[in-house]
Amino acid sequence: MSASSGTARVGTGIAGLDEMLGGGLPSGHVVLVTGLPGTGKTCFGLQFLAAGVARGEKGLFLSLEEDVAPLVESGRLFGWPIDEAIHAGTLKILRLDPKETRQNLQRIQGSFAKELAELAPKRIVVDSVSLLNMLSEDEPNRRQTLFGLAGACRASGATAILTAEADPTHPAVTRDGLSEYVADGVVLLGYSTAEDGRRVGLSLRVLKMRRTSHARTVQPYRIGPGGITVDAKAVDFGSGM
Ligand SMILES: Nc1ncnc2c1ncn2[C@@H]1O[C@H](COP(=O)(O)OP(=O)(O)OP(=O)(O)O)[C@@H](O)[C@H]1O
Ligand SMILES: [Mg+2]
Repeated sequence: MSASSGTARVGTGIAGLDEMLGGGLPSGHVVLVTGLPGTGKTCFGLQFLAAGVARGEKGLFLSLEEDVAPLVESGRLFGWPIDEAIHAGTLKILRLDPKETRQNLQRIQGSFAKELAELAPKRIVVDSVSLLNMLSEDEPNRRQTLFGLAGACRASGATAILTAEADPTHPAVTRDGLSEYVADGVVLLGYSTAEDGRRVGLSLRVLKMRRTSHARTVQPYRIGPGGITVDAKAVDFGSGM
């Protein structure tokens, strides 16, 4: 049986990663992309949406970190027509100002599902759920927001990427230690280190992806002029880590 049989796939736009996933993300999944600062989480999200735009699919970017202008500029530098897509109505970037805590939480816990139904995006990116979590004062509220957000994404039928900051002391888990449990899949972006601890490159691993087999190997990737490319050579669907 091939890795891609049975499940509709959504191409990530990231060369090599789709190969590791047996053809792409399973359609309708909510996937967490976690990593330390500078590992390319925002780039991953933009690239995922740009791949959708190239196929005429509507996308929504919910940004809690960067303003619209720098996101558009990042896209332009990578060669993705983010600005054009916004003007054409294929892409919407919603900037949630972390200072407006109460309004943002009310929106996500309340009207977000309805807003999604009206927009009908095929691809959603939330960058990042770490900042979203910081808006909540306590654990129950954090849970409610996170589960509500993932639920709204699932109900919309879109395929979603939630980015999250990795814990600096344990970079294989998120800071909140919660996001991985609401997600159908987890992609870990990280720094590969030499024996003396020097950061020598970037590498990626698919920690989980429900309803599909996937590579469990650690694969190097780079962020270049066209965005992220994963070196998926010698992909091994059998070996586990
Ligand atoms: N136009 C570009 N060309 C090549 N590499 C780039 C370009 N833009 C960004 N990068 C690389 O991508 C890295 C940052 O990527 P990105 O902002 O997506 O990371 P991030 O994980 O979202 O970081 P943070 O946690 O700070 O938000 C930069 O440190 C740089 O190495
Ligand atoms: Mg970022």
